[in-house]
Amino acid sequence: MTAADKNIYWQGSHVDRSKREDSHGHRSAVLWFTGFSGAGKSTLANAVEMRLHERAAHTFILDGDNIRHGLCSDLDFSDAGRKENIRRIGEVAKLFVDSGTLVLTAFISPFREDRDSVRRLLPDGDFIEVYCACALDVCELRDVKGLYKRARAGEIKDFTGIHSPYEVPENPEITVDTGAVPLSECVDQVLTYLINQDVISDKG
Ligand code: ADX
Repeated sequence: MTAADKNIYWQGSHVDRSKREDSHGHRSAVLWFTGFSGAGKSTLANAVEMRLHERAAHTFILDGDNIRHGLCSDLDFSDAGRKENIRRIGEVAKLFVDSGTLVLTAFISPFREDRDSVRRLLPDGDFIEVYCACALDVCELRDVKGLYKRARAGEIKDFTGIHSPYEVPENPEITVDTGAVPLSECVDQVLTYLINQDVISDKG
């Protein structure tokens, strides 16, 4: 059933995305960080946001652990729960893009199809997939939240990498080796991409 079938129509606004981008002095886009739990998605997203904030960019982070406290608190970690989680975040991220914001998302987002659905929601070039390529054994060794230990002990079910798959991105815009490369270099890599794509200016 389409929206029109339900008597719902799109309401435009006079202050549109391009007006907002003009006043912000940068393009809006989604930086979609994906990778295992403990791969450094949130750490990298926060460090990138800090650098963007220093340049007075309009930014916002949507983080898996935080969003699952509220908007997605009704969802579990089954395949269907993760799919709905990513669908909702995609829609929210799209709203942020319309608001002229550089939105940074940090979700495991293990399924290629779900990430690609978000990509399709947005105009070309606005979905920037950042693969945090930290190997599972490194994440498990770090075990910052102690969740891998609990998953191995059978206390947490459907844990990504243990009983639930992670599908590596095939053509991510950026791959960062968060398992081996220092954080500051990973941040530089993301910032350089944004400058090269004219999302932000090279003026600093
Ligand atoms: S996603 O798969 O739906 O994208 P999301 O990023 O929102 O996951 O949440 C992942 C976070 O939830 C992890 O960083 C971890 O702290 C916590 N978590 C709790 N249970 C699980 C689980 N079964 N699998 C993965 N992460 C889990």
